[in-house]
Amino acid sequence: MPRKVDSGFDYDDDYDVYEDYDYDYDYADDYEVEEKGTAPETKDKQKIGSIGVWRCPICTFDNEDSMSACDICGVLRDPLVKVNTDSHTAAAPFKFNAPSPDDLVSNGLRSMKLKSRGNVLSEKETNILVEPELATKRSLLSERETNIPVESELAIEGPESSSASGTGDKHNGVNEEGSASGSGTERGKSNVVNEEDSASGSGNEPELFDSSMSVQTLSFKSGKAEIISEGKTASISQYNPDTWMIPSKEDDELSQLNLAIVGHVDSGKSTLSGRLLHLLGQISQKDMHKYQKEAKQLGKGSFAYAWALDESAEERERGITMTVGVAFFTSKKYHVVLLDSPGHRDFVPKMISGATQADAAIIVVDASMGSFEAGIDATRGQTREHAQLVRSFGVDQIIVVVNKMDAVGYSKERFDVVKQKLGTFLRSYGFKDSSVVWIPASAMENQNLIASPSDARLSWFKGPSLLDAIDSLKLPARDYSKPLLMPICDVMKSNSQSQVSVCGKLESGAIRTGFKVLVMPSREVAVARSLEKDAQQCKIARAGDSVTVHLQGIEGNSVRAGGVICHPDYPVKVANHLELKILVLDISTPILIGSQLEFHIHHAKEAARIVKISSLLDPKTGKTTKKSPRCLVAKQNAIVEVVLQEAVCVEEYSNCRALGRVFLRVSGRTVGLGVVTQIFNKMED
Ligand code: GTP
Ligand code: MG
Repeated sequence: MPRKVDSGFDYDDDYDVYEDYDYDYDYADDYEVEEKGTAPETKDKQKIGSIGVWRCPICTFDNEDSMSACDICGVLRDPLVKVNTDSHTAAAPFKFNAPSPDDLVSNGLRSMKLKSRGNVLSEKETNILVEPELATKRSLLSERETNIPVESELAIEGPESSSASGTGDKHNGVNEEGSASGSGTERGKSNVVNEEDSASGSGNEPELFDSSMSVQTLSFKSGKAEIISEGKTASISQYNPDTWMIPSKEDDELSQLNLAIVGHVDSGKSTLSGRLLHLLGQISQKDMHKYQKEAKQLGKGSFAYAWALDESAEERERGITMTVGVAFFTSKKYHVVLLDSPGHRDFVPKMISGATQADAAIIVVDASMGSFEAGIDATRGQTREHAQLVRSFGVDQIIVVVNKMDAVGYSKERFDVVKQKLGTFLRSYGFKDSSVVWIPASAMENQNLIASPSDARLSWFKGPSLLDAIDSLKLPARDYSKPLLMPICDVMKSNSQSQVSVCGKLESGAIRTGFKVLVMPSREVAVARSLEKDAQQCKIARAGDSVTVHLQGIEGNSVRAGGVICHPDYPVKVANHLELKILVLDISTPILIGSQLEFHIHHAKEAARIVKISSLLDPKTGKTTKKSPRCLVAKQNAIVEVVLQEAVCVEEYSNCRALGRVFLRVSGRTVGLGVVTQIFNKMED
């Protein structure tokens, strides 16, 4: 879940990141990987190849003995294990010359089944629709040496009204009696909600669209689904939300907080998440025993808590998270949706797809000697890349959990070193000091998670526990009074009942059971048969909520992850030619006209080509400094045009931040962050 603008990858319009930005930071000092020890738990992932080399347990690459971290994937070598002739690796290897494993697993999130999921489709009858492999339809640039660090800012114009509709003005523009398509009914007078009049309508009759909105209802497919062609759509200014769409004071429900857990591979994100869930009663003692027993049998006893989130056999065998795991718990203030991201660099696209929904984030770092340093390494560390990406998702509040403090004897000195070094990066990415909470913790030894630390060695820490820190986070503004937009993160279909369910976060508007929705890009209309929030059935979901919507009246092949469900009168745009304002990250190969990239936008990714480099921008003022430059190099801000292989659902950033925020990647590295400034062609059917 996303938002903001002003400049740089700080998209906030209310915060001038340049004041804090350190343009001259010397990174060289920070990249040395110390080899004094590491957490014993990480040994599970370490096996040795042959003498003179050590084999990475994650990617099986044979590294020279002098390497302290894997040359391919950056996983830290256990310095205590030196030479061993056992070439067996417990982890199932994958080949880097094959398509990325990222392309082989289903797109988007997967949900934990910690609680009874009410009407959720049973696992057996549920298929995840896998996006067609991008790898087969693109020929990306092959440079592997591109880096990520961002040390300059992207000049982006201040946003319009996008998320201005916070809770403060949440009752503005509410059509309390009329339909969602804006019948001109007087606003704000009556408290009576006329459910029949809403745009939803649960009847079986095909919806008739108001001709004044210039939307044409064309035909029905298979006698079931309604298809709407693209035409002139209703102007957003005509939209008046119904009363039920806006939360009222009487709704004493806790709000949902979407919390992404990010950080370098092996830092303990899943263990921390599993531990937290167990402490909060979301994992039964029986299940926990089962995880412990099974993990032990597989020789991975230290991963027992992580198994609550790492559900697939491959994740468990390899001891790494491969897709974003979703779980729920309740704090004093929030229904927290936990998004446990993979830390391995090969799964950054998964991390982007899942964590892009975050309202706030927990960055987990491994305090162990050498491990923290590997995480902030300029080329192989994911701590910095994740922090930077999270910031570009619009997240401005983070909690940094300095985990595995048990491995460093709960040393205050070590905590201070981590805080000082990582703090410098976070500031340079636009995080304000006042929006960052630092917590020393041990997920393994349950220190500082839901209560103050019990270990006397941590008595020097006077701050909040992790749970209290979560409760201190603030909810971002929500776009309740705009038409429904929900990017589809994942799709599930039931073969037996021909039901289709979609998961995602509502970026704007609201939905309730019986509501008619337009599924894009297929342009088919379906009815929201039922809704689930926090793994419980619910009747209404509003902007900011992560939900599963069970759809009726649509075929599974008309719904795909990366698509969007929206209000039938206000379809999201679908296009493949876009103008972007981008910040180029720390690349070593220039971006040229014709350069091919991987283009990520909400839950969609597409092969893309740069077709025009329009201008270079001054990072501070945003003004054009050069027209039509021949190429782009690191740290430059520019306006470019891209053409995508397939059209995506997209909005200008000024209309909807979540649908106008893009990430450009090449050969497994993020090379640019940007926003959509213009949409050239709306695709015709
Ligand atoms: P990816 O999802 O693959 O990026 O890894 P992760 O960050 O989720 O790490 P995970 O939870 O899988 O834990 C990795 C290893 O670190 C496991 O062996 C854990 O037992 C160990 N670990 C996690 N937390 C702690 C801790 O607080 N102290 C110690 N000593 N080890 C820990
Ligand atoms: Mg994990």
